[in-house]
Amino acid sequence: MPVTRVLTGITTTGTLHLGNYVGAVRPCIEASRRADVDSFFFMADYHALIKCDEPARIEASRLQIAATWIAAGLDTDRATFYRQSDIPEIPELTWLLTCVTGKGQMNRAHAYKAATDANTAAGEDADAGITMGLYCYPILMAADILMFNAHVVPVGKDQVQHIEMARDVAQRFNHLYGAAIGREFFVLPEAQIDAEMELLPGLDGRKMSKSYDNVIPLFEGGEKALRDAIARIVTDSRLPGEPKEPEGTALIQIFDAFATPEERAAFRAELRAGLAWGEAKQRLFEQINRQIAPMRARYDALMAEPEKIEAILQAGAAKARAIARPLLDELRHAVGLRRFQALAAPVDTAAKPKVQLPVFKQYREADNRFYFKLSAHDGRVLLQSQGFDGGRDAGAWVKRLKTEGAAALDSAPVALGEDVSPDEVAQALAALVAAEQA
Ligand code: TRP
Repeated sequence: MPVTRVLTGITTTGTLHLGNYVGAVRPCIEASRRADVDSFFFMADYHALIKCDEPARIEASRLQIAATWIAAGLDTDRATFYRQSDIPEIPELTWLLTCVTGKGQMNRAHAYKAATDANTAAGEDADAGITMGLYCYPILMAADILMFNAHVVPVGKDQVQHIEMARDVAQRFNHLYGAAIGREFFVLPEAQIDAEMELLPGLDGRKMSKSYDNVIPLFEGGEKALRDAIARIVTDSRLPGEPKEPEGTALIQIFDAFATPEERAAFRAELRAGLAWGEAKQRLFEQINRQIAPMRARYDALMAEPEKIEAILQAGAAKARAIARPLLDELRHAVGLRRFQALAAPVDTAAKPKVQLPVFKQYREADNRFYFKLSAHDGRVLLQSQGFDGGRDAGAWVKRLKTEGAAALDSAPVALGEDVSPDEVAQALAALVAAEQA
């Protein structure tokens, strides 16, 4: 079964509200349970440093957001769940990408442009107060995504431009360093915007957002804060007993996000029959709290034991780095950051020519299957595998061929490259086995 890699991050500058839960956390956790989805969720705490210079706030937020994902039901054994700042390969990749990213493209990033426009409007220097962090924000985000070769990135509308930039950078890198060796290092990611995600309104009917001060907290402040926020939802002034038109109200839209179709229909009917707004808010509170309360209890328990969360995140980082490190090693090699031994070896033309090792490459095709091939140092394809359902299967064969050499060839699902003799392949594999043992 082809597996889709889904990846998203949340910037750790505050706590999550109901809109974040309905729009991001809940759908991502649901998707992560599917057998054909491989999920990567992380706390974007390097991104947080761009917006926030209060260490205590950063510290609290990354803990709270991590606890929220777990309390909301994320299976952290299944998904890869980590803090961005625990993966040193990400800033390393950021630099490799920075070196192939056009400055003009960063000038056009919405967040940066909004900041310069505001400065200009205020009569200030266009770049006043703008850090290089803000300016390069999209490159760090591209590294987040490309490091794990995500296919799909669920994000809000405001982030779509960043995904497009990640695609551009990936394409550029693939072309610059991969074309000559027939290797696509990076998958081109696609943004996924959940329609529901955009639409949860806040107390005043505008999109729920901290910047509008219209949010309903998810866990923070407990049941009381939830009840108080719901009491502040703006309604019209119709009296108890007067029929009310539910469609289009913030109250009904928030209700819908937590209700089955039957419950939605029943609630509308009651409002049309004159249910008082105060009573309706009480119903809304109960509807939400019934679903949130068990999670809130788990959240409070987790917040009391941060070392448990720490252990989960350490394990997540190890899982993530097991993927990030080998790719980054390959990228370093591709750009020319290589070990010196080959270069430093004394050039002795009389001596037996030094074997230049063939290389195995693993990749994924448009058919979503996993492949590998063995190429000679000059780029000729010596072996081409068939497609595998899982990257792990492809990897297992590569490993066998590297350790057992030609002995594994008979049973391996591979074909010889064009004009390649079995002898040449056997020699190439023998060289790899020797190198593996050296
Ligand atoms: N920039 C995103 C936001 O503010 C957070 C983020 C950082 C992210 N890196 C990411 C989202 C990678 C998706 C993928 O919402």
